[in-house]
Amino acid sequence: ALKNVENGGLPTVCSDESRIKAVNSTSGKESTVSITVVGASGDLAKKKIFPALFALFYEGCLPEHFTIFGYARSKMADAELRTMVSKTLTCRIDKRENCKDKMEQFLERCFYHSGQYDSEGDFAQLDKKLREHEAGRISNRLFYLSIPPNIFVDVVKCASKSASSLNGWTRVIVEKPFGRDSESSATLTRNLKQYLKEDQIFRIDHYLGKELVENLSVLRFSNLVFEPLWSRQYIRNVQLIFSEDFGTEGRGGYFDNYGIIRDIMQNHLLQILALFAMETPVSLDAEDIRNEKVKVLRSMKPLQLDDIVIGQYKSHTKGGITYPAYTDDKTVPKGSLTPTFAAAALFINNARWDGVPFLMKAGKALHTQRAEIRVQFRHVPGNLYKRSFGTDLDRATNELVIRVQPDEAIYLKINNKIPGLGMRLDRSNLNLHYAARMLYIPWSRAVKTGSRLFLEGDLQDARWEICKPLVADKDPHKVFTIYFEFCARREDCEMLKHFEGVPA
Ligand code: NDP
Ligand code: BG6
Repeated sequence: ALKNVENGGLPTVCSDESRIKAVNSTSGKESTVSITVVGASGDLAKKKIFPALFALFYEGCLPEHFTIFGYARSKMADAELRTMVSKTLTCRIDKRENCKDKMEQFLERCFYHSGQYDSEGDFAQLDKKLREHEAGRISNRLFYLSIPPNIFVDVVKCASKSASSLNGWTRVIVEKPFGRDSESSATLTRNLKQYLKEDQIFRIDHYLGKELVENLSVLRFSNLVFEPLWSRQYIRNVQLIFSEDFGTEGRGGYFDNYGIIRDIMQNHLLQILALFAMETPVSLDAEDIRNEKVKVLRSMKPLQLDDIVIGQYKSHTKGGITYPAYTDDKTVPKGSLTPTFAAAALFINNARWDGVPFLMKAGKALHTQRAEIRVQFRHVPGNLYKRSFGTDLDRATNELVIRVQPDEAIYLKINNKIPGLGMRLDRSNLNLHYAARMLYIPWSRAVKTGSRLFLEGDLQDARWEICKPLVADKDPHKVFTIYFEFCARREDCEMLKHFEGVPA
């Protein structure tokens, strides 16, 4: 969203030397970029957006003239915003010098404006402050909506009426989930388009910017050994796992209205699934990749209640420390039934994947933090070494693990003879461990990436269709309550059979 020098945006190569003053070719005026992080008091802004903006600044990817404004309802002075932001900035990317100085320089460009999300007056005041910083240059404005989706339209309306650029571009980055279901997603698009053109809207899914997710198609399409195995003929099941070892921690204002299915499954995990399972695209163009992803998603039957198990984390004590339950969070309404965990089995009805379960698990406050893709291969037919494994044939199957985070790695579990006398087999890993290969993972991708990593409307629709039975009810809690009771006994949940024999 920040790219494009022509329009007074960024240099194409990011380095201090290459940072240039963008000058408009017709007016000869210098230009500036003003970035407003709407929802700046929140979790996403603190954890990801400000650190990513700092990483861009550090690497010389922001133009010479830029200003960053935080905007939210919480009252905060500029200095308080800077203190808040400074706690999350790191120089972990590399050990280059002057990191502390760079942080200072970055923080000096950060300001805060408190306002309501539906107040044109408050946005008009923001506009006044932005103009002071833009100092008569051509102004390009980016609004990053780091807020719950139900207030996107209010913000876009106020920003476009009272704070859009009069002489440069105005762009908006919107976060997932894009709506609550197909209908609200379509309504959201319609409403946003009252104020913005399609090319001003950037729908972001930051999982698409994760290094190992980007690497998925490289792994498949540029290595001869994987693609021929990539089908029902050799693959027994595929697991897509998202697990966090911390709870919602003050994010109830957003999370409680959406739940884990909308927060993680409908977007991050279905995006990964589509990339994993799509046919070879005609080219690497965003359009061609998107077409293949849409085809896969449209070949999937919508999830039925029998295909999913849900849950909510409770309080527990470990090592003498008591961790709160989801409903103990002050920002979560008392008695909330919003799911914080879900496990689902999905199927793709096409020639390549017919009958292969794609098992998704997503949860908060679980015992580990990880995001992984695990590909479990079938048994070797008539395995000569069956006896070497005893009766535990499951141990003899190959598994490819793509560990998206933390400690990024790709490893393949293969069977191996244990050295020594006799013929005993064991599984070993062929391991591409990123840290060991000194491959560092940059932070700034989500803000820096081009259109290939942003989302198009039809992908949204296809993904909401798959989740339709789970999110269609006007009151999702009702659906979830019924289903929760239904799944209380393990034997009631047909889908659980797909998880049998699957490592946790
Ligand atoms: P938060 O709950 O932290 O909300 C962000 C800010 O929005 C809050 O600080 C609050 O600011 C305001 N807000 C919260 N709830 C409401 C409400 N009900 N009505 C009006 N304003 C509200 O959420 P996150 O920052 O975690 O998420 C924001 C968006 O970012 C979501 O769409 C989420 O899907 C997406 N996202 C989050 C990620 C993360 O790691 N957290 C990662 C990727 C995407 P104030 O009260 O000061 O106005
Ligand atoms: C966001 C969700 O999209 O992704 C959060 O809204 C979640 O609930 C976050 O914590 C996880 O992102 P990451 O990059 O930290 O795995």
